[in-house]
Amino acid sequence: MSKKLGVAIIGCGNISGSHIPNYLKLDNVEIRYFCDIIPERADRAVEKYGCGTAVYNYKELLGKDDIDIVSVCTHNDFHAPISIDFMRDGKDVLCEKPAARTLEEALEMQKVAHETGRLLQIGVVNRFCDNVNHVKKLIESGELGEVYQVYTSFRAHRSIPGLGGDFTTKAVSGGGVLIDWGVHYIDLALYCIGDPTPLTCSGEAYCKLGKDMKDYVCTSMWASDTADFEKGTYDVDDFVSGFVRTTGANITINGAWAQNIGEAETFVDFLGTKAGVRLYYGGKFTMYSTLNGMLTEIKTDFATTGFDYGAEIKAFVESVETRVPNQAHIDRAVITSKILDGLYRSSDAKKEVTL
Ligand SMILES: NC(=O)c1ccc[n+]([C@@H]2O[C@H](COP(=O)([O-])OP(=O)(O)OC[C@H]3O[C@@H](n4cnc5c(N)ncnc54)[C@H](O)[C@@H]3O)[C@@H](O)[C@H]2O)c1
Repeated sequence: MSKKLGVAIIGCGNISGSHIPNYLKLDNVEIRYFCDIIPERADRAVEKYGCGTAVYNYKELLGKDDIDIVSVCTHNDFHAPISIDFMRDGKDVLCEKPAARTLEEALEMQKVAHETGRLLQIGVVNRFCDNVNHVKKLIESGELGEVYQVYTSFRAHRSIPGLGGDFTTKAVSGGGVLIDWGVHYIDLALYCIGDPTPLTCSGEAYCKLGKDMKDYVCTSMWASDTADFEKGTYDVDDFVSGFVRTTGANITINGAWAQNIGEAETFVDFLGTKAGVRLYYGGKFTMYSTLNGMLTEIKTDFATTGFDYGAEIKAFVESVETRVPNQAHIDRAVITSKILDGLYRSSDAKKEVTL
């Protein structure tokens, strides 16, 4: 039997729960280390999954020759340093989205991937989802005609995560709803329309409803609850609006972690000259067109796997074995970082910027 690939999981919080079970399903890999700066989390992972060794400082893992693959599942501030350290140590890395807090960090990660010849895949999971790939194929086969506009809506009524914590502290996260949710929608749009080159963008990122943390009204919070109204930080965007011109279809962006409209609207519209598609985020899609002078509406039905982290992990391990980068390689994902950066720059400058 051939040697198994050794895996280290760095960060044993929420998203690691989508990586770990999917590595465990594969015969050719073995999770050897669980690392978290909160020791109980690493210890709990060893206990829960019945394998590996708990480590509390990732630097202890540098130089270990029983690691081939590293999953970086920490908050955004550690994506670049951890990915870079392990690539320089000769390991292939799957780093969670967004690639990094800033474009500079993402470009540095890309540079090190090229210099070292290591694989660096970013956790843009939609690129592995069947619903998204169905839409991509429809576009490629010309069913929609010329796709000239993609409208993305990732608006929720009340969904600010961990108010006053890592997600709402710019120094940790790099931004709010745009970088956290927008990264998925922009990446999905780019992927379906064939990864065009972005040219210019204009955007406005608002920091409104969460700013006065004591006054924020909601019924529940994901990630974690507000830990500390007095010392917690809220300096990121909770609403964003933007427009991106590309060499292909243009992309409109509308996102809200929180808004005073009580309906969540999470979809991506692909507008083509022959047909249009509304893709419900994480779900199915409807195609609108005309037939013999009539308006038509086709509802699709298929056994969707939803957010397919299993396919993402499997594709990464295949890339590691074949040394062939896949559709979520940093060279693709960095384009989204460029757009996120442009939208924040445009918002600060109050004008359109070149990408
Ligand atoms: N792909 C997706 O759909 C998706 C979904 C959720 C989160 N994410 C991304 O995953 C990342 C983590 O989010 P989460 O919700 O799992 O957060 P989390 O807080 O639940 O988990 C992060 C873990 O990393 C640990 N950590 C922080 N710094 C560390 C370091 N230097 N070394 C080792 N461990 C460290 C923390 O203690 C924590 O346990 C974020 O970048 C987020 O954007 C992606």
